[in-house]
Amino acid sequence: MPTFTRFAVRATIAATLATASLAFAQTYPIKPVTWIVPFAAGGPTDALARSIAERVARELGQPIIIDNSPGAGGTVGTAKAARATPDGYTMLVGHMGYMGAAPALYKKLAYDPVKDFEPVFRFPDTPLVLMVRKEHPAKDIQGLIDFGKKNPDKLFISNAGVGSSSHLIAALVASSAGIKVTLVPYKGAGPALVDVIGGQVDGMFDQTNTALPQITETKVRALAVTSKVRLPQLKDVPTLAETVLPGFEASTWYGIYAPKGTPKAALDKVQQAYLKVMTDKAFTGKMSEQAIQLLPPEQYTGAALGKHTEAEVLRWRVVAAKTNISLD
Ligand code: MLT
Repeated sequence: MPTFTRFAVRATIAATLATASLAFAQTYPIKPVTWIVPFAAGGPTDALARSIAERVARELGQPIIIDNSPGAGGTVGTAKAARATPDGYTMLVGHMGYMGAAPALYKKLAYDPVKDFEPVFRFPDTPLVLMVRKEHPAKDIQGLIDFGKKNPDKLFISNAGVGSSSHLIAALVASSAGIKVTLVPYKGAGPALVDVIGGQVDGMFDQTNTALPQITETKVRALAVTSKVRLPQLKDVPTLAETVLPGFEASTWYGIYAPKGTPKAALDKVQQAYLKVMTDKAFTGKMSEQAIQLLPPEQYTGAALGKHTEAEVLRWRVVAAKTNISLD
């Protein structure tokens, strides 16, 4: 083929591609977008994702459908998101456990949190509350640790599955406090909390957005919080740091990710919609009422989430090595 023709063909292809991506950028989204939540419905991740999805959908002009795909501490739904078509219509509600800690905890993981995903934007963080069933003999956090020491393996702590934040925090606190507990995995913090309320298990760590209502209704008793300072909503509940674990602080971080190769126009449009939503004081005010910790706006961007994810993958390698919490 003569050089001129080859050049003309290439120019035509490039022009066609440019027109196509311009059309995509101008029209995306043209149909509902799916967010995969790797935990059962009714838990903190599900609740926070649905509240943000509802507002971002309004900005995008298309519904956001929540697809609950639980299992293995969130790694099942995450692998599903990694394999999804990178067309802007499937995204993952990512989380500290399966996007930060999992590479350090699982020898075999069906995805790479950094290589297989495009970071889109970051949610605010949620601290956790240690709660026990109403009838449990422990009156405070020291009482629970003493109970655990006197009754090894007779302390049944429910969680959202291996590698979830309710599992990781329970494992970290137990190993730091030197007690052996029985960690009972569920498909999410929602079902795990139901069994604390029902008295089938002794307690759990749950995020504030779903824990606070149960504490306020005295269906469970709060013994400690994982935040650096006490929460205004739970003034009488001490932090782990001021009681049994000086310096201890933890909260669950989240972010929206898309499969690698998703068009930049889609990533930018969804991020812009979210950043606009997070300027709404009434909306963020409701989050603060649930003790959800708002971040400085520059930390909400996809770029910031990308850096945070890389740093967390490295941090959890150190934590896992120091506390030798591994899962397989
Ligand atoms: C967890 O990691 O414990 C979760 O956030 C659980 C959930 O949302 O169900």
